Amino acid sequence: MERAKKSHYKIAWLPGDGIGIEVLEAAKIVLDKLELNADYIHGDIGWEFWCKEGDAFPQRTIDLLNSVDAAMFGAITSKPVKAAEAELVPELKGKGLVYRSPIVRMRQLFDLYICLRPTKAYPGNPLNFKENIDIVMFRENTEDLYSGVEFNTVPKELSDVLEKLSKPFAKFKDLKENGYALSCKINTVAGSERIIRAAYNFAREFGRKKVTIVHKANVVRATDGLFLEIAKEIAKEFPEIQFDEANIDAMTMWLLKNPYNYDVLVAPNLYGDIISDLCAQMVGGLGFGCSGNIGERLAVFEPTHGSAPKYAGQYKVNPIATILAAKMMLDWLGEKEKAEKLEKATAAIIKEGKVRTYDMGGTNKTLDIAKAVAEKL
Ligand code: IPM
Ligand code: MG
Repeated sequence: MERAKKSHYKIAWLPGDGIGIEVLEAAKIVLDKLELNADYIHGDIGWEFWCKEGDAFPQRTIDLLNSVDAAMFGAITSKPVKAAEAELVPELKGKGLVYRSPIVRMRQLFDLYICLRPTKAYPGNPLNFKENIDIVMFRENTEDLYSGVEFNTVPKELSDVLEKLSKPFAKFKDLKENGYALSCKINTVAGSERIIRAAYNFAREFGRKKVTIVHKANVVRATDGLFLEIAKEIAKEFPEIQFDEANIDAMTMWLLKNPYNYDVLVAPNLYGDIISDLCAQMVGGLGFGCSGNIGERLAVFEPTHGSAPKYAGQYKVNPIATILAAKMMLDWLGEKEKAEKLEKATAAIIKEGKVRTYDMGGTNKTLDIAKAVAEKL
């Protein structure tokens, strides 16, 4: 899950909008101090481009991502379909343009199938739910309920087939085509295998003791059943690692009750999305949640939080999630030493507690944190 170290890197720099801009500015301060030999190339992405061009993730940015080693991504505002349409420039209105989340598109377009989300309680963080939490989440990142196979109005052609092939569909069959909507949860064998294998390989490489499969196979039998069965097969190849599985609902309860029971988690896309926020909250909230969207060729690193429009431009949010995302990028690039140095410096700033943003009870600004981390490097 990492590349061979190079003497020079090309990194796409995608701040997006809202606080994405500020937190990426913070990440740049620490990367510069580490003297990573890299060109950082700005890419247009975000709400502004939706409004002006009808596309928040323009083709030129896709081309850029095709030419880089890795990318750092800030955050992007997204709004429901009607609200999004209302903000288009007049000449683009009424053309049937539909807003789709750029990050979800990016994950699918570049097959960034691993969403890696470490959850570590850094000592001294006053926001830790409990000390010593150390959980690593592997979220499937390209399929499941995020497949995009959805129908706001269900065509008769489709409902006829469903009626023919599925008994439980009988109770919906007489509904008008706009009397219901349909979102397909699609989980492939190959897609499930590769994320589960990634989790197990990680566990083996880093001496982790246990992998927990998160699912809802008791009810969502076809797709989650497939995921769980594949996991059971793969687990046989890793006899030294304890196999564990839990339903998503129970998981939210047990994670809170005893986070020390968990080590590596692996989940289909939507359950992974849900558990990620819970995990982040246990170690300080979204100001500490960092993500890597990782494929075979490209990886995009980002804070798990959104664009927080209400704080935009104030330079008050916590950039630690983004600094830790930069640390993950260094790991992926094979720059282990720099990654370790950056994590140590960040942990030291958290522990000392002299420089803190508002969420941690302090009065410092976003860039103060970055400068303090940089000074420690
Ligand atoms: C995440 C986010 C995204 C997701 C949103 C912004 C589309 O919640 O990265 O967890 O649902 O995957
Ligand atoms: Mg999420």
